Amino acid sequence: METYLNTPIKEVISKFPKVGEILEEYEIGCVPCTVGSCLLKDIIEIHNLSEEDEQEVLVRVAKVIYPDRNIKIPKIERKAKTRSKEIRYSPPMKKLVDEHVLIQRWIALIPQVLEHLDVESPEDLKIISEGADFIRSYADKFHHAKEEDILFKYFDENLDVLKTMLEDHTKGRGHVKALIEAVEKKDKKGIVEHLNAYRELLTEHIKKEDEILYPWMDRNLSVKEVGELFSKFNDVDEISGNGVTERCRAFVIKVEEKVQTPKKEVRP
Ligand SMILES: [Fe+2]
Ligand SMILES: [Fe+2]
Repeated sequence: METYLNTPIKEVISKFPKVGEILEEYEIGCVPCTVGSCLLKDIIEIHNLSEEDEQEVLVRVAKVIYPDRNIKIPKIERKAKTRSKEIRYSPPMKKLVDEHVLIQRWIALIPQVLEHLDVESPEDLKIISEGADFIRSYADKFHHAKEEDILFKYFDENLDVLKTMLEDHTKGRGHVKALIEAVEKKDKKGIVEHLNAYRELLTEHIKKEDEILYPWMDRNLSVKEVGELFSKFNDVDEISGNGVTERCRAFVIKVEEKVQTPKKEVRP
């Protein structure tokens, strides 16, 4: 069993697809992950399962790998405490989670904005352009830059979990570039395709960060590092945050009001 705990998860899953299904039952989504060189034991640690769930997963995985043998299940060493039910973020991590909330507010509006999109309407195109500006200025330049330039530097950049997050950021940038080109060409199909793809990507990305990555990082940062991060994030907020945050918040409020206002009935 030790051998498989130290084997990259993609290798384990390609040999034993049932293992992927078991992990998914515990909300460990390794099958769709494109990197997949995390070791099985690291995956168990990073998802911080309760001790009972960890034992249960390992017993089930062992039964798939060694169906005819009774395997002794090793205990996975943890650097930090197991999960408490409610996630409590450190102050710097809470800042990032709060920034996600504003991004989620814009993402939640996308289906309604696209439903009524008329590419011949300058007002409609302006909303899409401002939405692209929101993604570039707030979600990417402001928020993702805090992650990439500050937070991720506290961890080994070769970790799969970080590579996966960086891949998501890059894919997001690609969709926004294509979205802006589609706006310039008044290409409705392109706008719908790339804005929807961005919405799907970021919805999953934020869930992974809020529920897995940030809590795991919090468990592995020292008190001193948490303090440093908080002060570095405050510096970014002071230098580049305020204008961007206010402009982007105003955009979200404007679109929320627009989509929530019922259209006036036109009577013949
Ligand atoms: Fe991110
Ligand atoms: Fe994020």
